Amino acid sequence: MLLKDRVVLITGARGALGQALVAAVRAEGGTAFGTDLTAGAGVEMAHDVCSEASWTAVCAELGRRHGRLDGLVNNAGLIHVGSIEATTLEDFQRIMAVNVDGVFLGCKMAWPLLRKSDAASIVNVSSTGGLVGSANHVAYVASKGAVRLMSKSVALHGASFDPPIRCNSLHPSLMAGHMAQVLSGNPDNAAAGIQEIVTSRNPMRRLALTSEVANAAIFLLSSMAGFVTGSEMVCDGGSTAQ
Ligand SMILES: NC(=O)c1ccc[n+]([C@@H]2O[C@H](COP(=O)([O-])OP(=O)(O)OC[C@H]3O[C@@H](n4cnc5c(N)ncnc54)[C@H](O)[C@@H]3O)[C@@H](O)[C@H]2O)c1
Repeated sequence: MLLKDRVVLITGARGALGQALVAAVRAEGGTAFGTDLTAGAGVEMAHDVCSEASWTAVCAELGRRHGRLDGLVNNAGLIHVGSIEATTLEDFQRIMAVNVDGVFLGCKMAWPLLRKSDAASIVNVSSTGGLVGSANHVAYVASKGAVRLMSKSVALHGASFDPPIRCNSLHPSLMAGHMAQVLSGNPDNAAAGIQEIVTSRNPMRRLALTSEVANAAIFLLSSMAGFVTGSEMVCDGGSTAQ
């Protein structure tokens, strides 16, 4: 019960990791408020993370229901496959809008509600692609690298408050799900090709489980991580350690 009575907003809650995050927060006794582009099962409210007006509406609803926010997981994100030659400016800006503007707006717009918590924590979902480059994912890697240093800057600002608002970035390697399918280049063939690549390159020879990544987020959200801020939580089976 690491998050007993804690209110946690999770963006991109319809996705592979989002669903695991909602389930993990609930399993730890917290109240998960999931949002995504459309509402539905596990998703309390429609929410476009690129839109300031949409953030205003979500924060107003959270304020009305709970009066505060204890945890924010900026999880919504888009993948894009393409080298510097193959990626258009339009592609680049679309990825940056969701993966960077979305995280910026989340931290900024939820700040007043986070200040009402006695132990607020932000987890910004980056990627191993926020730590090392990738020839064929230039826009994605640029966006996830931005999330890494934005998180440290937010953490330093949050540390000056009493109580502090903590902020950390989370760096998973490839997980099974929609993104793995896109990366495999064959959306109808799940992660077959990707599984082979990961098996040959990852020290633990497998994809990450969404539950494992969600558990890392739970730690960062909880009081167990009370002195952890501005850090990079890597959950990648050792792939960026080599
Ligand atoms: N899947 C992986 O292998 C992997 C690896 C490392 C990092 N990540 C990161 O984890 C996070 C979750 O990834 P996932 O695998 O669950 O992906 P996913 O595609 O399954 O889910 C992403 C969710 O974000 C939502 N979304 C997209 N644009 C949005 C917007 N403008 N506003 C609100 N919601 C929006 C989508 O509707 C979707 O439900 C992302 O930030 C991703 O970059 C994923």
